[in-house]
Amino acid sequence: MGKPDYTIMAKQLESLIEEDSSYVPVLSNCAALLWEQFEDINWAGFYLVKGDILVLGPFQGKLACIHIEKGKGVCGTAWASDSTQLVPNVHKFPGHIACDSASNSEVVVPVRREGEVVAVIDIDSPSFERFTAEDAQGLELIAEVLGRSVEWN
Ligand code: SME
Repeated sequence: MGKPDYTIMAKQLESLIEEDSSYVPVLSNCAALLWEQFEDINWAGFYLVKGDILVLGPFQGKLACIHIEKGKGVCGTAWASDSTQLVPNVHKFPGHIACDSASNSEVVVPVRREGEVVAVIDIDSPSFERFTAEDAQGLELIAEVLGRSVEWN
């Protein structure tokens, strides 16, 4: 298995969304796609913006924390700052939330609907420096497709 092909993943998502654009089936299949496409990861999935907190969404991997406050941890920071967080060593990230002690690096990308963050994509790895700027850009493409085409409520 090589690097994830983000263009193919985006096309797969578009065709899944054509069949049903509601967020539970799309995000569930998207988590499965991410899980299949990445080597050396221990968690891949979503947190959804519900009012003033993030709530756990569809994912693959071990049990995860259910609620994350805005600005807390890597996910809450991605939401609050409306920006991708590429974290080579989670132990050096102030306030990192350790759901799985095996995680050492992480990438979190906001999903925007009409400019507002509605969710974040989160992927964790047991290796340090697992994710590259190319991964961040590829995931931003996936986030753009989801933000534009999914029915979020
Ligand atoms: N580590 C994340 C919390 C979510 S879990 O990794 C699934 C964070 O600091 O936001």
